[in-house]
Amino acid sequence: MRTQVAIIGAGPAGLLLSHILYLRGISSVIIEARSQSYCEARIRAGILEQGTVDILRAAGLGARMDREGLPHHGIDIAFDGGIHPISIEKYDGGRQVMAYGQTEIVKDLFRQHVDNGTVIITDAEVTAIHDIDGISPQILYRREGKDHTLNCDFVAGCDGFRGVSRKAMPTSIRNDFDLIYPYSWLGILAKATPMNKVVIYAQHPRGFALQSMRSNDISRLYIQVDNDDHVDNWSDEALWDELDVRIGVKQNRGEIIQKGITPMRSFVSEPMSSGRLFLAGDAGHIVPPTGAKGLNLAIADIALLSAAFIDFYCAESEVQLQEYSSRALRRVWKVERFSWFCTTLLHTDHRHSEFEKKLQRADMDYLLSSDAAMKSFAENYAGLPVEILP
Ligand code: DHB
Repeated sequence: MRTQVAIIGAGPAGLLLSHILYLRGISSVIIEARSQSYCEARIRAGILEQGTVDILRAAGLGARMDREGLPHHGIDIAFDGGIHPISIEKYDGGRQVMAYGQTEIVKDLFRQHVDNGTVIITDAEVTAIHDIDGISPQILYRREGKDHTLNCDFVAGCDGFRGVSRKAMPTSIRNDFDLIYPYSWLGILAKATPMNKVVIYAQHPRGFALQSMRSNDISRLYIQVDNDDHVDNWSDEALWDELDVRIGVKQNRGEIIQKGITPMRSFVSEPMSSGRLFLAGDAGHIVPPTGAKGLNLAIADIALLSAAFIDFYCAESEVQLQEYSSRALRRVWKVERFSWFCTTLLHTDHRHSEFEKKLQRADMDYLLSSDAAMKSFAENYAGLPVEILP
């Protein structure tokens, strides 16, 4: 089989890339290790930056998001027994964020690909990526016990942190930068009306907590736990009690329909391209979930990468493809910085000295009392610009 762009991974990044290319008449085939139902069921963060909302709308994918998503004008921070609002809209020129789950975006995209007639090869294990330095790379994959080859002009690695694409980058040029945090998140999805209209980030001596939502009847809630903690250590009641204490606002309780632990990590692999292999999303970088940047960063990569492919096929220019890695990484590092900042600002690090605890309090005090700090927070929270070249 042959296609123009071979895409590894049917997460939001790979699915969106394929759709944007389709709109410009560029062919692609998606190879995915798991089944479609597995991809559609993965529970991930659900706060979309204004730029992500704009990109999805421009690609014709905004209808259900605009009907069912919940626009947020700001966020609340629970700190020292009080609730402190930060208006994103006021401090970032009217921009907003939208609560709409990654799971829903993936479902919308799979539906769109049925109309597009996209070839999505699921349950397929990529065994090798060859000739990324030539003009016709090949992807070797195994499906139902048989080996196959997909020939292409370019390979887009959108297969997440544990995928094969990053491993296909030549080790001689690859540099990984990694930071592991001494805490994780225990997250639940509950059939309960969210207590607050907007997200609440709580900094508490017992640890961080977060109240978010997926709809008007589904709450998404998290608490900071130790890395070696386990969901079985938390009864439903103990979890709700802990959320109430840390957030300082009694939550509406309801049936817990999903419970899981998320580790926290910051990671960047440089460069994000080599020859005709291009990485996007978690294949190239990971952020800790605080601030909900992972999905947004993946979509921003795809905005740049799709523009570069369009430039190649429609304007016969390789410039944007050559610049993709350096331009994407400039934005990636700024989002890494913001995710790290939100994480360290809001979590309780038991290794911290008294001096570091005082600095953390000063950081929070500054954020909540300075217009300049709130403006910077709002700009990052609603999303830094994605600088797509004309
Ligand atoms: C979610 C929301 C957030 O604001 C965040 O920082 C992380 C996760 C969520 O809804 O899953």
